Amino acid sequence: MSIKVSQLPGAPFGATVEGLEPAETPTEEIVAEVRAELAEHVLLVVRGHRPPTNAELVRFAGGFGPLFDGGELFGITSPTKEILRLTSERNELGVETGPSAVTPLPWHTDYSYLPCAARETFLEAVQLPADGGGSTWFADVYDAWESLAQTIHDRLDGLVGIHSIKGSGRHLSRDERRAARAGRDYKNPDFSYPGGRVPVRHPLAHRHPDTGRIALYVNSLVAEIEGWDPDDADGLLEDLMVHATDEGRVYGHAWEVGDLVIFDDIGTIHRRDPSDPEQIRTMRQLSTMLADDGLSTTGPVTA
Ligand SMILES: [Fe+2]
Repeated sequence: MSIKVSQLPGAPFGATVEGLEPAETPTEEIVAEVRAELAEHVLLVVRGHRPPTNAELVRFAGGFGPLFDGGELFGITSPTKEILRLTSERNELGVETGPSAVTPLPWHTDYSYLPCAARETFLEAVQLPADGGGSTWFADVYDAWESLAQTIHDRLDGLVGIHSIKGSGRHLSRDERRAARAGRDYKNPDFSYPGGRVPVRHPLAHRHPDTGRIALYVNSLVAEIEGWDPDDADGLLEDLMVHATDEGRVYGHAWEVGDLVIFDDIGTIHRRDPSDPEQIRTMRQLSTMLADDGLSTTGPVTA
């Protein structure tokens, strides 16, 4: 298998990949090649391949490392424990049958509210609204870190962000947060947040275990900075989020059916635009796990 990689035109980062077949068992060479391209481009849009079955997709993503049981954590309708199936499909009662794929999501890093956050995410468009539906936006937080002054690096290095699933709504309005909560509970009364809503610790300056590259590891799940006055932390986190999501380091992906976007979950944060809830939008999502970041091994914080 030889893959062809082309930089995304007009985007600050990212590349398209052709010739990669996720339906096939990935060899060590393929994994190394994709990882190398990911290290260079941070995000890869895989196109032109045969759509993998659920089992093939699990086998492909699993070639990159241990996978989260995202399907098991979130969705009773997911086809395997590793595949998180996001969909706007409704059952006979008119209730969405899985975690939503059409409501807006604020800037986040997958699973950063767990002790082991995501390392890479594989996100695939299975079915889309006629107009393509909402885009997913990605920000390059390696660039966000590298563009900060040394004095800021010195100030941030060593600080610890407290990530909480409850923090994920902090950039929504109160009404939007309430609506999201109510909808989630209504859809699945057995739903419980992964990690049991317990906040966890991750460094604000997060070093990739392979490349050593440092990312500004902030997103809307960061509720506090350990040891800081909450108001001071809020101010700094807001400033950092504005910096991280500056349009010069953001790429908006307009989905086509079959697109498989592979992204570095340390070096990017992402958010989702809304889509028409009356149309079907279905995605398959899998993530590899970071072993630990040197902080998470101490377990969840309780404060
Ligand atoms: Fe996500």
